[in-house]
Amino acid sequence: MELKEVLRFADEKVFSKTGKHLDDLQEAILKEALQGRKYAAKVAKDRGCTEGYVRIAAAELWKLLSEILDEEVSKVNVRAILERAKFYDHSHSSAIGENYGTVNHNVNICQKIPRSPASPPNSQQTPEKPQIDLGDAPEIFKFFDRTPQLATLENWITHDRTRLIALLGINGTGKTTLSLRLADTIKTDFDRIIYRSLRFSPTLNATLTHLLQIFSPQSEIPQNIETKISQILDYLRKYRCLIVLDDLQMLFSSPQLAGQYQTGYEDYQLFFKLIAEVCHQSCLILNSSEKPREIARLEKEDCPVRSLELGSLGIAAKEILRSQKLSDEETWETLIDTYQGNPLWLELTATVIRELFGGRVAEFLQCEMPILDESLQFQLSQQFQRLTGPELAVVNYIATQTEPVAVSHFLSKIPLSPSELVNAVRSLRNRFLLDIEEREQITLFGLNPVLKQYVKIRYLSN
Ligand SMILES: Nc1ncnc2c1ncn2[C@@H]1O[C@H](COP(=O)(O)OP(=O)(O)OP(=O)(O)O)[C@@H](O)[C@H]1O
Ligand SMILES: [Mg+2]
Repeated sequence: MELKEVLRFADEKVFSKTGKHLDDLQEAILKEALQGRKYAAKVAKDRGCTEGYVRIAAAELWKLLSEILDEEVSKVNVRAILERAKFYDHSHSSAIGENYGTVNHNVNICQKIPRSPASPPNSQQTPEKPQIDLGDAPEIFKFFDRTPQLATLENWITHDRTRLIALLGINGTGKTTLSLRLADTIKTDFDRIIYRSLRFSPTLNATLTHLLQIFSPQSEIPQNIETKISQILDYLRKYRCLIVLDDLQMLFSSPQLAGQYQTGYEDYQLFFKLIAEVCHQSCLILNSSEKPREIARLEKEDCPVRSLELGSLGIAAKEILRSQKLSDEETWETLIDTYQGNPLWLELTATVIRELFGGRVAEFLQCEMPILDESLQFQLSQQFQRLTGPELAVVNYIATQTEPVAVSHFLSKIPLSPSELVNAVRSLRNRFLLDIEEREQITLFGLNPVLKQYVKIRYLSN
């Protein structure tokens, strides 16, 4: 039997059981295993993740197929079992006919037609739709890759029943896009899906009122904040809800060390702590470009709390360049590396390449790199204006260095007390502005070329 046929059959089976297709990682594992190859190293290399990660995904895949096919599936027997199952599926359907209501041995059999992966599930089989309220969420037109991150988040939410997740990363790295894609991917697991941005810094009271209005538009909203919190927790217990609160950093003070709530916003910490600690069946995702302090604390304890730092989009960023119709594909990886695989930085730079270089990346790369156009500088200025004086002193110093440096090295070079310095470096870390590297048992801190260039232009050029 052809490899493609077996793969398609496996995908159909998974889809009819879970309502979801095999994801790219599962498909890559299956492809290799069906050909009797050792897959972990190859798949890990192709997808830029660890072998351990691939093995975990494979173990879950064998478990899922074992449940679906009702026998113990492993990498060794997966092909034989799938081929046999496909054969019996086929002979079974030809024996009883493929129509509904076939009469066979005087028994009225109402045979379910297997759902085709390509066609939408029919209404009888679709689980009741979740109620979705995305408010002012941006519409996602294009979504590339992020397969490992989606798998991790999905696993935390559906398997580990994590109640509080922080999705973190520097501006433009794709937090909003990924959280919305995730919500769409796992929506059938939920009764309610809610997205709200905190970009206008609403108080906790306002956010709770808003959430209660979504849960129950007709009911009277209590005045007391404690009653509001307890009603929200009731809803989170009664319904399985996925709530995304985006732009959490807008609740933090600036210029202050990262993750410090503005005066009057501290009660959000208590709310998030309750979400993590109280028993319920829902999940709250917080998107932020600054790591909230309570997340760091709760993660350490044995709480259903996790955080995921989003980095480069990697090679998939080529699709962004392709969609912008740039040329010289052989040079795209250099461009992606220079701009750290940050989707927003690449989108803004691609516009410049289109407007001033006729879309020719090779010609653009001949200029001294990196070039930061005005819109990219504006984006970065929004982040840098949140930094404290000591943080600026640290980034200014690092920007003048050709190699990454250790904290002990700063101590003699920057006129700050050791405590101020340590706090500044920690805060920069919690804003995802520093590159961190271990070399010969020393932790070194550097700035990526885009940030370094920005600091030079903005703070060091006069
Ligand atoms: N996986 C992806 N595939 C395609 N485009 C993406 C992807 N991730 C991000 N983008 C694009 O990159 C840009 C920035 O993404 P997004 O707004 O999600 O980042 P963010 O981390 O939420 O930024 P901010 O911190 O400013 O809120 C958007 O235009 C988005 O469409
Ligand atoms: Mg965002």
